[in-house]
Amino acid sequence: MAPRAPSPPAPVVLSVGGSVLVTGEDDAGYLARLSEMIRDVARARSLLVTVGGGRTAREYIRLGRELGLTEVELDEIGIDVTRLHARLLAARVGPPAPAVPPTTIARAVHEAHRVSPVILGGTEPGHTTDGVAALLAGRLRAERLVNATNVDGLYERDPRRDPSARRIDRIGWAEFRALVAAGTDGRAGQEFLFDRLGAETLARAGIPLLMVHGRDLANLRSALEGGAFTGTRIG
Ligand code: UTP
Repeated sequence: MAPRAPSPPAPVVLSVGGSVLVTGEDDAGYLARLSEMIRDVARARSLLVTVGGGRTAREYIRLGRELGLTEVELDEIGIDVTRLHARLLAARVGPPAPAVPPTTIARAVHEAHRVSPVILGGTEPGHTTDGVAALLAGRLRAERLVNATNVDGLYERDPRRDPSARRIDRIGWAEFRALVAAGTDGRAGQEFLFDRLGAETLARAGIPLLMVHGRDLANLRSALEGGAFTGTRIG
């Protein structure tokens, strides 16, 4: 009997914050290099990428809030911006990544069984693209979720206010969930390290969360591939 082919590595999910994607500094160069890296990593394993709305989403949400829109309406505006960013990245990555980002978790899972990478934005009101990434990770039994943000990990205190604050290399779910609960209240466009639904989902599934700076692509790639990285590991 022929030996059985080795099973493919488990999927990995990447959540890229909009604050990393669109900064006003070399965004086109960064997007091009990020696209190359995504294409490369996605050749060896199933890779799903969620893309945030960053300051563009927050700008529209602020405007909508001034106009008296409801939180759900503001979330939907935020979702549209995340999809715009996902479309931008997917178009640059090119086939086989679906050019039109899937709009539901079910659809994204379906696509992930067919092609790699799959790139998407938000799905429904009430969470962020980090939450979407965590739900996908749970559904696909992903090996890890890597969150690419504009900081190089979780700090014991806000390093912008206190430069002596140290980065935390590793932290358990109980402690991290308490931090997330204290830092978020569920309003549209909220900026926090990770969203509540995302933290709960990953903790329940026992999937580790790795936080890294998204602009350091060599480090981000190593985190995605299970190598050493600079950042914070949760769980
Ligand atoms: P983001 O995922 O960009 O959230 O969604 P964020 O916390 O601002 O993250 P960064 O800065 O990009 O890293 C923007 C907003 O869109 C709505 C929420 O209001 C969110 O704050 N949204 C997004 C949803 O309601 N559902 C989703 O699935 C995604």
